[in-house]
Amino acid sequence: MTTIDVVTIFPAMINAMVAEGVVGRACSRGVVEIKARDLRDYTTDRHRTVDDIPYGGGPGMVLKPEPLFRAVEAIAVERGAPEAVVLMTPQGKTLSHDAAERFSRMSRLVVLCGRYEGIDERVVDALVTDEVSIGDYVVTGGELPALVFIDALVRLIPGVVGDESSVEGDSFVRGLLDHPHYTRPAVFRERAVPDVLVSGHHAAIEQWRAQQRVTRTQTRRSDLLGRLETSALSVDERDALAQVLVKGKGA
Ligand code: ADE
Repeated sequence: MTTIDVVTIFPAMINAMVAEGVVGRACSRGVVEIKARDLRDYTTDRHRTVDDIPYGGGPGMVLKPEPLFRAVEAIAVERGAPEAVVLMTPQGKTLSHDAAERFSRMSRLVVLCGRYEGIDERVVDALVTDEVSIGDYVVTGGELPALVFIDALVRLIPGVVGDESSVEGDSFVRGLLDHPHYTRPAVFRERAVPDVLVSGHHAAIEQWRAQQRVTRTQTRRSDLLGRLETSALSVDERDALAQVLVKGKGA
């Protein structure tokens, strides 16, 4: 079983989210245990103080080192040494599928949620193994980023998502964006589903979907095409790629 301990000043935010959906089911089936740890439980003063003013001045507050050290040490005693102590921070490395996959193979993870202006750098120096960002924007705390991080890695643990082929087909697993999806009705407010999808012609459907994946990737995320591992592509995808590349040259 994978254990993920999340150190936060808002444990209710973590608990509410991990009780739902695919991650919630993985928890109730015992595939993963996600435990929110209230940082205030690791304080020693009467006011349960977790933050203080920054040395050198400036706006905002900084999370104090003592409660974070006590929390991580208590978790390590209870669970055994963690394989990674991850700090959610906009200063971190941007989360990717490959990183989510690496963390999904670990069995003991600790996630620290930053708040206020930041956390005392001595925590980063002494305890943190990885700093992870969910993108180039700032949210008010590390809780939502931690939930994004946890969701992305938990769904990659074998057996968590019922149909493995659904994970293998993910946009960033093979480096192409996904094709469009449709369900019934065949015509909705005068908009018809593409004919090929209702044709029942499986080879033609797969060819159309491959073309859609390639052209969408080219128009929306051409940066991905440069990094494409062509050996991982299907014959239909390679054909579609060859077509857009040839067309691109002629233009
Ligand atoms: N905390 C605030 N913004 C963040 C971000 N983009 N990623 C991770 N942690 C954060």
